[in-house]
Amino acid sequence: MAVIETRDLTKRYGDTLAVDDLSIRVEEGQVFGFLGPNGSGKTTTIGMLLGILTPTSGTFSLLGGEGRRELVEARQRVGATLEQPNFYPYLTGRQNLRLVARVKGVGEEAVARSLERVGLAARAGDRFKEYSLGMKQRLALAGTLLSDPELLILDEPTNGLDPEGMREIRRLVRRLGEDGTTIFLSSHLLWEVERVCTHVAILREGRVVLESAVDELTAGAARVAVSAPDAEALEAGIDAHPAARVVDREGALLIAELEDEDPAALNRHLAERGVHVSRLEPRKKSLEDVFHETTGSSEEPGMEEVA
Ligand SMILES: Nc1ncnc2c1ncn2[C@@H]1O[C@H](COP(=O)(O)OP(=O)(O)OP(=O)(O)O)[C@@H](O)[C@H]1O
Ligand SMILES: [Mg+2]
Repeated sequence: MAVIETRDLTKRYGDTLAVDDLSIRVEEGQVFGFLGPNGSGKTTTIGMLLGILTPTSGTFSLLGGEGRRELVEARQRVGATLEQPNFYPYLTGRQNLRLVARVKGVGEEAVARSLERVGLAARAGDRFKEYSLGMKQRLALAGTLLSDPELLILDEPTNGLDPEGMREIRRLVRRLGEDGTTIFLSSHLLWEVERVCTHVAILREGRVVLESAVDELTAGAARVAVSAPDAEALEAGIDAHPAARVVDREGALLIAELEDEDPAALNRHLAERGVHVSRLEPRKKSLEDVFHETTGSSEEPGMEEVA
């Protein structure tokens, strides 16, 4: 079953086409990265899913529900952190969570379990104001987990965090995904999506330019890094191989792309030509490589690669 399915979903703000004929499908159990640079329409899309914004045109379903009433019902089974949560600075993490639990109509057991899941059980007695940003964000996640949502929608959950805070959230999201929660996560970090998500849709100016499983995108020995004492002979050797071409350089290393994904065959071919390689290692493609190939652009994706 599709947990989220959008069909030609479109949102205009006046002359701005924020989301443009967006059609994506998120299946149960996926950790789905919704990746795009600033202003590409991520928050607008999430706003429509959550019922905060009305689409200009197009339709979508959430947890199988499609009509107005069904969507209201489905959203009760969705956990979302769209805005910075309003926690009380002088109350402890646990006390804050109890307030949320009361609103949601769940008990103390759910509070304890949520704190456990986000790794805050040991710090639940500390005041919110003493928490690091990463811990604050994890408490927000604990709040959304209280009602055991079938789908988590997270809008840039690592935004504003330091590297350690980002790591905490990434680890948590991965763990939640492994536990079977379907997660829809927006990000402008190629690198983050590559590490955390099982699937990705890349958004540019409101349009999806690529949607795929992450491991399918980056799989295979499609690239190798090669070096040899005689660099010129090496390059000529690679050029002479019918399935290989040099696509990049890293110092003395040549990065070659292999259409046949067969590094051993390249090695044999080079040896037959008398080129003895001193190093040959398969390279996974990065999501950034794929992004450039897909969009056919060498320009910056407008997204940060490294956090
Ligand atoms: N309330 C609004 N009124 C007018 N234009 C808006 C409004 N909200 C967003 N936009 C515009 O719609 C486009 C998409 O914005 P959106 O916030 O959805 O992008 P985003 O991908 O979430 O960006 P960011 O990474 O900065 O959060 C942008 O051009 C933005 O300026
Ligand atoms: Mg946004």
